[in-house]
Amino acid sequence: MTTPRKVEQVITGMPATDGAGVELVRVIGQPRLMDLDPFLLLDAFRSDNPNDYIAGFPPHPHRGFETVTYLLDGRMRHKDNAGNEGVIEPGGIQWMTAGRGIVHSEMPEQENGMLEGFQLWINLPASHKMSEPAYQEHDAGNIPVEQRPGATVRVITGITSLGTEGPVKQPLTNPLYLDVSLDADTDFSETLPESHNAFVYAVKGSLALGSDRLARDQLAVLGKGDQVNLRSEQTGARFLLIAGKPLGEPVARGGPFVMNTDAEVRQAFSDYQAGRF
Ligand code: CO
Repeated sequence: MTTPRKVEQVITGMPATDGAGVELVRVIGQPRLMDLDPFLLLDAFRSDNPNDYIAGFPPHPHRGFETVTYLLDGRMRHKDNAGNEGVIEPGGIQWMTAGRGIVHSEMPEQENGMLEGFQLWINLPASHKMSEPAYQEHDAGNIPVEQRPGATVRVITGITSLGTEGPVKQPLTNPLYLDVSLDADTDFSETLPESHNAFVYAVKGSLALGSDRLARDQLAVLGKGDQVNLRSEQTGARFLLIAGKPLGEPVARGGPFVMNTDAEVRQAFSDYQAGRF
């Protein structure tokens, strides 16, 4: 027996500015959806106007969670104070575990053309917030692509019902991160662990989930169940299907730091200011 997950809430991304003036759409981490445990933030950026992105994200710190950057178009150079450096290219991801602290920059590696991608923040449990920082990068060639009738599924992390497994392993939150493209009027189903929180974010085209409809830049929070069923409309669709194990811990946010208590956030600010990252 399967229990289809119903749509609990539809959120429309809101325009925001971050970094040194990058125009983006904030989907998670805005007043209507501050977080969806274990996910703390989802930003989408998409522009062919360099003024919207060229200033990038100069050096800034993080502590207590993971940042996942996935690019569909354009190039971004990442550099951090742990000595990691790399360029994310279309179809590639960068998965950074900030742990106890990292200072990094994320800068567009292009002066014109389209830049499109997403940044997702995934929380770490209290036991791992002060872990050693870690970093992994996977280019498009390293992201498995599963073909189904009318559907292309890119698997960044987790395992699909057909057994395709993404390159990133994170047992703490056991996330599933799929990038799915559907032809017009195509049904898509996928099983999801019952205990996971899950959402669908429409990147292109439009989708129907039961009686709810999702257009570009809209996110559907899924309710309880072990399966998601949806259908693309005549334009076809591209969407992210993301799920993760909730941590069930208190969340204290302070800009680039996400800890369990306000005292820990204040400690993060003073450690950063004292050069202890
Ligand atoms: Co950052």
